[in-house]
Amino acid sequence: MDNEFRINLLKYRKAINLTQEQLAKKIGVSFQAVSKWENGLAYPDIELLPPLASIFQISIDMLLGYRVQKIKITEYEDHYQSETYYWGNQVWDGCYEVLKKMPPVRPLTLLDIGCGEGQASVFFAKNGYKVSAFDIAQNGIDKGIKLAQISNVSVNFFNANILDYQLGNNFDIVYGSGVLQYIPLEFRGKFFENIQSHTNVGGINIFNVFVEKSFLPTPPDWELTESFWKSGELFRFYKDWQIDFMEEKIFDCHSSGVPHKHCMDTILATKVC
Ligand SMILES: C[S@@+](CC[C@H](N)C(=O)[O-])C[C@H]1O[C@@H](n2cnc3c(N)ncnc32)[C@H](O)[C@@H]1O
Repeated sequence: MDNEFRINLLKYRKAINLTQEQLAKKIGVSFQAVSKWENGLAYPDIELLPPLASIFQISIDMLLGYRVQKIKITEYEDHYQSETYYWGNQVWDGCYEVLKKMPPVRPLTLLDIGCGEGQASVFFAKNGYKVSAFDIAQNGIDKGIKLAQISNVSVNFFNANILDYQLGNNFDIVYGSGVLQYIPLEFRGKFFENIQSHTNVGGINIFNVFVEKSFLPTPPDWELTESFWKSGELFRFYKDWQIDFMEEKIFDCHSSGVPHKHCMDTILATKVC
């Protein structure tokens, strides 16, 4: 088996401009140890994998080069197969709210959760934010990387699962559109604990969620892994934050080619302490 760990370690260390010595110091080992790992002469102890993954802001699976083969995790992997961009070139209105609320007049870090094909991530990078972005669909990520390249901006795209991704660094802005329905009810508390504790004071979170309404049929492209939110449920996670904007609205959608309606709750909130 190829030592994918060795290749990834080198790739991600270089991506964040760390020398072997600097990386070694961060995790409390000698630089010779890091050198041996990168040369495929040894592996690190298992307890060093979480801090390493956290320094690179990737999952342990990704660090080890592990990918579940042949199991389709989301229908979006099919939607993202084609050369054209499934989500077009429009970004959600929330992106403009971020620009208004926290214009990048100083260096600001932004995390785009469930970035799909990267349209919003690239939009933010073009506007001057320092963007990290992840999705579970690798072909979406690959299209995001391509979009960033042709737009001449840099985005730290990586593959991760919203259900087990642990943030290592803090962000000024955490953004997610059309993705939190992949978090089942029982994991939502942990998810918000993770992202809120890794949002800088004065920073913002902006999210939307699909809300269940008895008078609206389930959308035709709704996946088994998706769980609706209850009306107002999202807002309760922000009771200790300053709420800058919240709304619930019903709108028309044509994804999957079949016209349908969604109900969506949106929040933009600032961490004040
Ligand atoms: C409705 S799309 C939204 C994409 C993007 N945010 C946008 O607005 O264009 C939902 C995205 O969630 C991703 N996704 C599904 N399950 C996921 C998971 N467990 N972890 C991370 N991303 C996931 C899908 O691959 C898809 O790209």
